[in-house]
Amino acid sequence: MSDAHLVKQALRAVLSGQQRTAADRHRPAWHLAPPVGLMNDPNGFIQFNGRYTLCYQWNPLACAHGAKFWGQWSSADLVQWRHEPLALAPSESYESHGCYSGSAVDNHGELTLIYTGNVKFDGGRTAWQCLAVQDEHGEFRKLGPVLPLPEGYTGHVRDPKVWQHNGSWYMVLAAQDLQLQGKILLLISPDLHSWTLLGEMAGSGLNGLGEFGYMWECPDLFRLDDREILLTCPQGLEADGWRYRNTFQSGYFCGTLDYDTAKLSHGEFHELDLGFEFYAPQSCLSDDGRRLLIGWMGLPDADEFYQPTLNHGWIHTMTCPRELTLSGDRVIQRPARELQQLRQHETQLKGIAGNLPALDVDSAELHVSIDGSFSASFADALNLHVDRHGLTLGRKNLRTGEQEERHWGGEVRTLQILCDRSSVEIFINDGEAVLSSRYFPDAQPHLRFSGSAQISLSHWRLRQCVI
Ligand code: FRU
Repeated sequence: MSDAHLVKQALRAVLSGQQRTAADRHRPAWHLAPPVGLMNDPNGFIQFNGRYTLCYQWNPLACAHGAKFWGQWSSADLVQWRHEPLALAPSESYESHGCYSGSAVDNHGELTLIYTGNVKFDGGRTAWQCLAVQDEHGEFRKLGPVLPLPEGYTGHVRDPKVWQHNGSWYMVLAAQDLQLQGKILLLISPDLHSWTLLGEMAGSGLNGLGEFGYMWECPDLFRLDDREILLTCPQGLEADGWRYRNTFQSGYFCGTLDYDTAKLSHGEFHELDLGFEFYAPQSCLSDDGRRLLIGWMGLPDADEFYQPTLNHGWIHTMTCPRELTLSGDRVIQRPARELQQLRQHETQLKGIAGNLPALDVDSAELHVSIDGSFSASFADALNLHVDRHGLTLGRKNLRTGEQEERHWGGEVRTLQILCDRSSVEIFINDGEAVLSSRYFPDAQPHLRFSGSAQISLSHWRLRQCVI
């Protein structure tokens, strides 16, 4: 289908559906969500000419994983976002089944997207890594494929993340080898057009790791202090105690990359977020040197198609933007400092948990200092429990109705909780661990405490900031 035709279809879907989505009380007040349809991965996250661009995997035509377009937002401050023209529509034969995930770079002043053209055919699939360049009107002109399927891999090759190092371009690329093991490839290019495979940087069965998943989606590679961090989303890990409880995982390895041999010597895999919904995060470097991260507050192949927002013609949100730092070999995540601009009406409370009044958590931020054990219920739909073993989050599975739990083990001293209509992001001990989850309260949600812990807290309403 031609580009113009697809763009018209998307526009029609937005114009006819946006009132219905706006009327949904589960619609976030300040998180990014699709105008209509299904959104998944953040893509092309960059600060370019001082302004942030964030694209997203988007099916504007249905609340299903079908045709994948790239929607686009931009922002001067990570708080106030605006819609930008559709970045990519899957109009060409080399992307007939979707413009899949990818990244953005500043190539000598040209905003350039590197993404996967996904092609499915009877019983199989192939993938091309493709380029598109922004013109003076803000539209992206496609330059076509620059990299076919590398030899020795199945059709599951995708999600290029590109950066510059010592005057060359480097790419990490998700791939599945012929033994059906997930791998991350490292490639080099002088000009973004011709790419040479340097080798397998990491993967299932490599660098001292045993079998560790059949596909590693959405890689990202960056430096924090003097270490390299490889983000990736391994698929096919079995739950192991409290680890790997979601359908697919999203986490990182901390290590040292040898650019000549393409090897990352790394430690253990750590999950980035222990909540019910978090996947496919992407980072960018801000002009002031911060490593920022945004994730998809959703998961593939989970109970997503039971979420009530489907009745309003949309599904999924992004997480809030986060700032990353390193402590030892652990990534610390804190909400981006710009989000403080959303705060209004501070209330401070102190006392025994069970004596505290209920708090409005429709669109709110909480800072909580804790001494002891307590429970807290978000509108009876999401329950939090803190004791000397750690923090446990529980909710009912939307499909089966069964109670499910996620857990972080350790001493919980403080919590920073960001609430937005149908989501909660819980940052433990100033970013040591995070749990992000969606929930769907029946009415304007309140948080009710119980238990004997001594608590002191600050509560802010967060102002509405939808686009
Ligand atoms: C991750 C993912 C990517 C792919 C995209 C397609 O959620 O499966 O690997 O590029 O979504 O929408």
